[in-house]
Amino acid sequence: MNPFTHPTTLPLVLGLSLSFSVVAADKTSSLQYQTWAQTSEEMQREDMLEKNPASVILWAGSAYAKEYHSPRGHHFAVADVSHSLRSGVSPKAGETGLSASCWTCKTPDAPRLMKELGVEGFSAKSFAELGPEIQNPVYCSDCHTQGSAELTLPRPHAQDAMAKVHKPFGEQNQSMQQSQVCGQCHITYYFQPERQDKVNIPWIFGNSADEIEKYYDARQFFEWVHPISRTPLVKARHPEFEHWNRSVHAEAGISCVTCHMTQETSADGKSFTNHKITNHLPDFEAANCSSCHQSQQHITQLIADNKALLETKAQQLQELLIKAHYEAGAAWKAGAQWQQIGEAIMGIRHAQWRWDFAMSSHGIHAHNAKEGEALLNKGLEQIRAAREILSKLNADLGVTRVDYPDYSTKAKAQAAIGVDLEKLTEEKQAFIKTEVKKHWPKAANFGY
Ligand code: HEC
Ligand code: HEC
Ligand code: HEC
Ligand code: HEC
Repeated sequence: MNPFTHPTTLPLVLGLSLSFSVVAADKTSSLQYQTWAQTSEEMQREDMLEKNPASVILWAGSAYAKEYHSPRGHHFAVADVSHSLRSGVSPKAGETGLSASCWTCKTPDAPRLMKELGVEGFSAKSFAELGPEIQNPVYCSDCHTQGSAELTLPRPHAQDAMAKVHKPFGEQNQSMQQSQVCGQCHITYYFQPERQDKVNIPWIFGNSADEIEKYYDARQFFEWVHPISRTPLVKARHPEFEHWNRSVHAEAGISCVTCHMTQETSADGKSFTNHKITNHLPDFEAANCSSCHQSQQHITQLIADNKALLETKAQQLQELLIKAHYEAGAAWKAGAQWQQIGEAIMGIRHAQWRWDFAMSSHGIHAHNAKEGEALLNKGLEQIRAAREILSKLNADLGVTRVDYPDYSTKAKAQAAIGVDLEKLTEEKQAFIKTEVKKHWPKAANFGY
């Protein structure tokens, strides 16, 4: 039965649609269900390309330059990926299209299908092909052993990842297990081309930016080539777990759950874990923050200061990155050879990786601001060195001027790199009409 419900119909289906026996059997547990359902109230999100048009230029040549929003409540996970211009358009004739791996972190139907099809059998399917199978957004069995409150990692890639950093799930304390449960999805990944595009976590050497970069460099791996500078790039994706796991809080046993799923007491005096996961600060007293922090206001101020600092540094870095992409582009046009420009191209790759590893980590200013700052400082160093090489090279090649793009708005940035948003949107609308609205379960249209 489909446990996915619209909030307004919630009272009707409570207790009816649940495959989760604890919920049906025990009233207290339905507080978990009710609060889980409230993630549907967390509907605000931001158009991140509008907010920061520079990223359109940096992601040119990748699907991220088309559409990118900030995250919102778990209830929207399936619908948002179904409606994004980054995913889910009918494959072109003769092509498989985007891998079903995109479903991995949106739904408990993904681990279910992996069991049926095998991990590589699953990822070998296309995103569109499996759309009709996806019934639920992030749900109980994503975090709990079916029918119990015990925590678990149903995703094979996550079990492998935690073993790679010598923290196998079964041997961890409660705090680490809680965070690993979130870290199934709030973690950076790539699709492994030689294994049918299955999700792989690049942590062989560890999970810092340096260690992940070493892994990608050693394999000469790239996800796309930047069309202006011809830099082979890799994308960082929401490395929240990675940043948290090196933080003061992780050391003190403060998990993702301490802050995002607080312990509460119901009207009839029963204590339970609030399953309405949001981006709000937890109750200062209830979550015991006072053992190290003065006050809630102090923390709020700390977050705001961190955010301002990181955004300023990120802006400096992205401006220099964009200049470097176009300076490399000018050098190529003037006849540069790989032997001359290679070191600068690697500098762009490494600096952009650090910018992305910091800024695609949602809430880094609340999770590990020090690491964010260090990443951006190193990126600034790397891009300055790359631009020095490019400047000498361009002088040698007789380049007298470089034209930089106008990225003052999202529309201008997309025009500069040839993204035709209108055409893409039309194609997407057609796909939604003929596929998503017709053949996919309700979850795919939730909120649309
Ligand atoms: C995103 C992960 C996640 C999802 C989804 C989730 N839970 Fe939980 N749940 C947790 C965590 C973390 C705890 C804290 C308990 C712990 O650390 O062992 C918890 C605790 C519980 C408990 C123990 C009592 C309590 O309140 O602490 C029950 C029962 C429970 N969840 C039921 C559910 C039900 C029913 C659903 C689906 C409607 C659900 N959970 C969805 C992560 C999740
Ligand atoms: C099965 C994958 C998965 C798991 C497990 C998971 N998340 Fe998420 N989470 C997502 C996705 C996907 C989104 C974005 C949904 C959207 O924007 O449509 C998200 C969004 C969020 C948000 C943004 C909410 C808002 O209101 O802005 C927070 C905070 C969050 N998750 C925290 C957690 C925490 C804490 C845990 C562990 C207890 C967790 N998540 C477990 C996939 C997951
Ligand atoms: C010390 C408390 C704390 C811990 C621990 C923590 N978070 Fe957060 N997190 C926050 C706060 C506060 C914000 C919102 C920051 C803001 O206001 O901009 C946030 C933001 C987020 C966001 C972005 C939400 C959005 O809508 O942009 C996600 C996703 C997230 N956290 C996931 C996690 C995950 C996953 C973990 C564990 C690996 C974790 N958090 C650990 C406090 C915490
Ligand atoms: C063991 C001590 C300790 C506890 C307990 C603690 N914190 Fe922190 N927190 C720190 C330290 C140390 C920093 C580093 C930043 C600073 O103060 O300069 C920090 C920083 C932060 C930041 C800014 C992020 C960053 O990386 O600088 C936030 C947000 C935060 N804490 C929230 C919380 C919340 C919410 C709680 C309660 C759940 C909590 N803290 C409990 C020690 C602690």
